[in-house]
Amino acid sequence: LVPLIFHNRDNVEWSEEQEASARSKVQENSSQLLPPDKQEEYEVNAKRYWDDFYKIHENGFFKDRHWLFTEFPELAPHRNSRQNGDSLHENKEECKQEGLGSCENGHCSVETRAESQEGDFPGAAASYRVLEVGCGAGNTVFPILQTNNDPGLFVYCCDFSTAAVDLVQSNAEYDSSRCFAFVHDLCNDQSPFPMPEESLDVVVLIFVLSAILPDKMQCAVSRLSRLLKPGGVMLLRDYGRYDLAQLRFKRGQCLSDNFYVRGDGTRVYFFTQDELDHLFTTAGLEKIQNLVDRRLQVNRGKQVTMYRVWIQCKYRRPLTPQH
Ligand SMILES: C[S@@+](CC[C@H](N)C(=O)[O-])C[C@H]1O[C@@H](n2cnc3c(N)ncnc32)[C@H](O)[C@@H]1O
Repeated sequence: LVPLIFHNRDNVEWSEEQEASARSKVQENSSQLLPPDKQEEYEVNAKRYWDDFYKIHENGFFKDRHWLFTEFPELAPHRNSRQNGDSLHENKEECKQEGLGSCENGHCSVETRAESQEGDFPGAAASYRVLEVGCGAGNTVFPILQTNNDPGLFVYCCDFSTAAVDLVQSNAEYDSSRCFAFVHDLCNDQSPFPMPEESLDVVVLIFVLSAILPDKMQCAVSRLSRLLKPGGVMLLRDYGRYDLAQLRFKRGQCLSDNFYVRGDGTRVYFFTQDELDHLFTTAGLEKIQNLVDRRLQVNRGKQVTMYRVWIQCKYRRPLTPQH
């Protein structure tokens, strides 16, 4: 039976009963944590588990990202403004308040320091640079390359799984004049990026931050934040607290609060809006958007109703440094 899906967006509150039921499921499945040696094993071998995942799923893992450009117009083509680099504003008022130039579709033409970026790195000549972190098989990168034909666009993408990066590089749509895929471990703060600091217009994190150890998230977000131009934006879509995937975990799969290991060894965290706000603002970014996207799934056959819970964030690097 195909489940019915109702879209309930923008902070629709759960009833107390729903909240209590979800909380008790999580208490139950978190009541027994994996022992430290097992936890260590999943951390040390994280890359291998994801490599195995991509070797099994290969291109079958393609997902239709129909929401990508409506939720994140920063990734869609936009006339003119990208020649000068953009930053995103929710409305024209906000743009006016900052005394910026034209503002259309959420994009503002902003002169930024990184515009005249010179140097010898992939994408150095581009005027609008996007980096997707944890790109997997390219579910976001290829739709961007297909849809956005701006001549100034350059898309970087990275993953710590060499199997994933191989899939991206061997895809017929991979065009090295517009794209650069590289292996990078987000949790390794010694691993260099191929582009300089303050060179990116957009950093995209789609279901990737949830895959790393919670203790390592802040360092990873802060490093990525430094790659953004002033006015550049970080976009995130990821699992929210009490998503049905969290409620379905069984006892014995929990690593720490709201962090679980799947049957295939890959791990997943379930965020609250406040936790993400803290991560981004600590990294020096300012909030443009932080919302919960809840979708009620009703399976009439099984008489079950459950929610998909995703969080979507947009945070911007300030135009003037914050102290
Ligand atoms: C749930 S998948 C999402 C993939 C892709 N963003 C998508 O939405 O299709 C999580 C991805 O994060 C990658 N990943 C996990 N930990 C990582 C790390 N420390 N550094 C870089 N990538 C990582 C995995 O290899 C995997 O491709």
